[in-house]
Amino acid sequence: MTTASNTSPSAFPDGFLWGGATAANQVEGAFDEDGKGLSVQDVMPGGIVRPRTDAPTPDNLKLEAIDFYHRYKEDIALFAEMGFKVFRFSIAWSRIFPLGDENEPNEEGLSFYDRVLDELEKHGIEPLVTISHYETPLHLARTYDGWADRRMIGFFERYARTLLERYGSRVRYWLTFNEINSVLHEPFMSGGIATPREELDDQDLYQAIHHELVASAAATRIAHEIDPDIRVGCMILAIPFYPLTPDPSDVWAAKQAERDNYAFGDVHVRGAYPGYYLRKLAERGVELDITEEDRELLREHTVDFVSFSYYMSSCETVTQERESGGGNLMGGVVNPTLEASEWGWAIDPLGLRTILNDYWDRWNKPLFIVENGLGAKDVLVQGPEGPTVEDDYRIDYMNDHLVQVREAIADGVDVLGYTSWGCIDLVSASTAQMSKRYGFIYVDRDDDGSGTLERYRKKSFGWYRDLIASNGRTLVDHRG
Ligand code: BG6
Repeated sequence: MTTASNTSPSAFPDGFLWGGATAANQVEGAFDEDGKGLSVQDVMPGGIVRPRTDAPTPDNLKLEAIDFYHRYKEDIALFAEMGFKVFRFSIAWSRIFPLGDENEPNEEGLSFYDRVLDELEKHGIEPLVTISHYETPLHLARTYDGWADRRMIGFFERYARTLLERYGSRVRYWLTFNEINSVLHEPFMSGGIATPREELDDQDLYQAIHHELVASAAATRIAHEIDPDIRVGCMILAIPFYPLTPDPSDVWAAKQAERDNYAFGDVHVRGAYPGYYLRKLAERGVELDITEEDRELLREHTVDFVSFSYYMSSCETVTQERESGGGNLMGGVVNPTLEASEWGWAIDPLGLRTILNDYWDRWNKPLFIVENGLGAKDVLVQGPEGPTVEDDYRIDYMNDHLVQVREAIADGVDVLGYTSWGCIDLVSASTAQMSKRYGFIYVDRDDDGSGTLERYRKKSFGWYRDLIASNGRTLVDHRG
């Protein structure tokens, strides 16, 4: 268990951005209030583990979520109490453009985020805004098949421009697409592509990815035109893949799996498709429609930093029987040397350092860890100051991951900050459960939708507050 007695020198730079992260669809609720349109999430009551529905259904916990839409002041005050320097949140596209393809934005949606920014400013917390986090307006999915259609670039540009013009003077850090590489695995949730995965051909899937990459570059251009000081980052679902055996074929298989993820960063940072990716597409018979304007956008409007989520590592093998494991949208082969969370996600703090070192060596861009944390079943108990959760397992998980961040920083890796995922309990993206909890703050809501929505501080709340106050000095190195 972590104790604060064994403290260590801070390797975290002054101004390191400590904080937490959420996404609109997982916290806001108010799914049809103040002119909001439906998003793909409103018809995904079971996340990715159950089929989507034709219309919102009462069993969809995201419709109310944790009611951040009405309780944001209370929640931001709790983040401030922990000393957050930064809060990552996403803007619900269908609050701003309810259908997605109209010309004029919904003022009520825009003013909600004005109020959120007011509150953050009041507490001196820097915002980090994700423009699109698995929240494509449902109309765009149904009418255009989401990002498979080139017209999505224009709709996204209009949406991004609206946000950047409205909030650009107040928000310095922006992310374009959450976990952009996840569209390979979850085309509906990630790319609003309504065609079922099994019917979707490679041509349409990779063309959709191209449209997203171009749209990301277009948003970067708009941001820099509005204010050259705005920092725009891409966001990658990061998973290091290890060879299951030292057989060179397994080593190569692991490398190939990583390239599927690297490709997205390569385009965002280097401004062009890497040769290995083009070769893969050619071998699959995919011929991308790339215009001269696309090429120029990708080349000229690369990102200022690279952000990523990190929860787990995975293995690859072509020489052994595969034992498939659970995982963050892309699964993989079980690593027999690692323990896993209750949902089968391998716990691997050193993997975070591997990612930090690899990404830095590869792209030489500042890095931002914008998601990391442990989804676990918490038990509410009565503490001296009221209900709480004794979540030492979460403290240990985060402590051990942050020790590895410290190691990477000591190697010279430029890390801008760390926003732990689900800093307040929220609805899970993959399983749509409340019981898969990540927060420092417990929210009284259960999988059946019951609960008061009251907020309670977990033990990790005080641990994170002390960690931020000490700029990382209270971390404990458990390695032998
Ligand atoms: C990331 C997503 O994949 O992982 C989040 O960006 C998500 O939206 C998080 O919530 C954790 O995954 P899950 O499935 O446990 O909610």
